[in-house]
Amino acid sequence: MPLDIVIGAQWGDEGKGRVVDLLAKESDFVARYNGGDNAGHTVTVGNKIYKLHVITSGILHPHTRGVIGNGMVLNPQTLIEEMENLKDAGMTISPERLWISDAAQLITPAHRLLDSAQDAALGNSRIGTTGRGIGPAYVDKASRRGLRAGEMLDEEAFRDRVARHFENANQMLVDLYHQPAMDTQTLVNEFLGSMARLRPYIHRIGPMIQAAIDGGKTILGEGAQGTLLDVEQGTYPYVTSSCTTSTGIFSGLGIGVQPVRRVIGVTKAFQTRVGAGPFPTELYGDMANFLRGSGSNPWDEYGTTTGRPRRVGWLDLVLLGYAHEINRFTELFITKLDILSGLQEIPVCVAYKYNGMKMRSLDFSGDARLMAECQPIYQNLPGWQEPLGACRRWQDLPAAARKYVEFIEQTIGLPVKNISVGSERSALIVRD
Ligand code: IMP
Repeated sequence: MPLDIVIGAQWGDEGKGRVVDLLAKESDFVARYNGGDNAGHTVTVGNKIYKLHVITSGILHPHTRGVIGNGMVLNPQTLIEEMENLKDAGMTISPERLWISDAAQLITPAHRLLDSAQDAALGNSRIGTTGRGIGPAYVDKASRRGLRAGEMLDEEAFRDRVARHFENANQMLVDLYHQPAMDTQTLVNEFLGSMARLRPYIHRIGPMIQAAIDGGKTILGEGAQGTLLDVEQGTYPYVTSSCTTSTGIFSGLGIGVQPVRRVIGVTKAFQTRVGAGPFPTELYGDMANFLRGSGSNPWDEYGTTTGRPRRVGWLDLVLLGYAHEINRFTELFITKLDILSGLQEIPVCVAYKYNGMKMRSLDFSGDARLMAECQPIYQNLPGWQEPLGACRRWQDLPAAARKYVEFIEQTIGLPVKNISVGSERSALIVRD
């Protein structure tokens, strides 16, 4: 009963799309269980670059089925665009291949407008959300007034609920945030039109996934964003609004707790973050530009969803250890090791100075205010000059690069089983 989970071990953008694409080769189902179109995956196959926000990148393998779990917030309009783009690229996207949970919450254009208005209203304390309506959609879910995908099966009642949603949101936008009113009639009709197209894809998916697991199929769960953006354990309040960690898979797909074969923690060889919030090892100036890249390559550090330049810094092993505690990883997958070529020395954060004391692991749950007081303590590891793009075996890596990886393994106490050294599918070192 193989159930595997891929989890971002940092603040998102670790390259999970690549990892999912790789593991999907051996999976029957690839299931997303949290977040929405705030996620963004760039996968390069041959000379084609695919950017996906809602559908798992696992769908690029023709034998897989993609799942949109009930833990997700789904923007039907983004989903339809993605389905069309994939079809134009020659892929089959059918109700057999793509399942949407009837309990997935829906994101409307009103949620997007509210997201931007609410974040802007926070002024200097703003989170820097992706503006995709994620927070407001999860707020509606928790407030028990959200719209769920399965509701559209009763068309008349759904129309009324959608109309009421837009009217309420309009009132908030105008009265609370002093924004222009929406043309609700047009938006309601467009929204209902999109949902009508998704009707054949909507099911109660929990039992279907359980039956697949019981039948020996391999399920790959794809956690979106990263551990440090988790609404409970992340750097609160600078987090997203969903459960981004491994445990979310059960509630987010509607299946009971059961054994998991692999929990793969994905980490870059350095640290990045988009949006506001504490970042103890953050770098600025030339070194930041070196790690970020110029933006000319889709692999450079600019957001897939927002295009924003990402904040960058040295690898933080205190936070990686914290991510391991929360997720119980079975292994690590390191991405972008190639970017570190050309440095004389590579600092790695091994502890924090906090409250005058040395702290090797976090003794608080993410709290952004406390993390802002943590000063990184670095250990300098030797760098290497050789480019790594052509390395395909462990022994092809320069000795210093192998030492860098071994240092991570020893500090965290986990094997690093895969290392990516470029954006191409093939730019990968698989360790025995
Ligand atoms: P939201 O998820 O749009 O509400 O944004 C909340 C925070 O999570 C912001 O700091 C975003 O930049 C960050 N965030 C959300 N999704 C991603 C992602 O896929 N990668 C990296 N950061 C993300």
